[in-house]
Amino acid sequence: MAFPEKQRPCRLGILISGRGSNLMALQTAIENGQLTDAEIAVVVSNREEAAGLSWAREKNIPAVGLSAAISKSKAERDNAITETLKNHHVDLVILAGYDRILGEPILAAYPERILNIHPSLLPAYGGKNMVGLNVHRAVLEAGEKESGCTVHLVTEVIDGGSILGQNRVQVLSSDTPETLAARVLEQEHKLYAQVVNDFIKTLSSRLESFAAR
Ligand code: GRF
Repeated sequence: MAFPEKQRPCRLGILISGRGSNLMALQTAIENGQLTDAEIAVVVSNREEAAGLSWAREKNIPAVGLSAAISKSKAERDNAITETLKNHHVDLVILAGYDRILGEPILAAYPERILNIHPSLLPAYGGKNMVGLNVHRAVLEAGEKESGCTVHLVTEVIDGGSILGQNRVQVLSSDTPETLAARVLEQEHKLYAQVVNDFIKTLSSRLESFAAR
């Protein structure tokens, strides 16, 4: 049975660290009906100055800045995030430019319920230092003809969880890391809403203990 068996939208907890354009694209997709049976329950940022956090506040979406937690240990930070997600009754966690590696507390609290978007065609150009423009620089240096973005499940292996969807873009000979990033980002905005929409429809059947949350 699909998520609406609960007679309410799937509550998304969106983790960001900066700009928040994927967050904004998801909210737009909810508003225009491309992403159904979902609502943003809370936006959490590990940086108080994140543009996406102010944007969410202006939209009256609950938004929590946990900058203070950043100076704490990884476990304390992850516990603070997990508690915030739980307090907002989050069903599905969406990483949208969150720049920290998630630890055990969140992974254990949301098994198979954390999604991430990465700006390459994983498994290519993923892993520890493959963030931001580094990814696009590496793609250009390797002379790739194609790049794109990937939505995947988050596990303890960085960028290593099951792939849920990919969109492709052509690499142009005139591309710089910045122009390639911009073209990939356009695809990210389309892909994330589609994958989240599809994922929600399968969420109940994916989880044996869904009701126990
Ligand atoms: C995106 O490129 C995403 O793939 C990566 O971080 C960036 C976040 O951008 N994980 P934004 O904050 O959603 O604009």
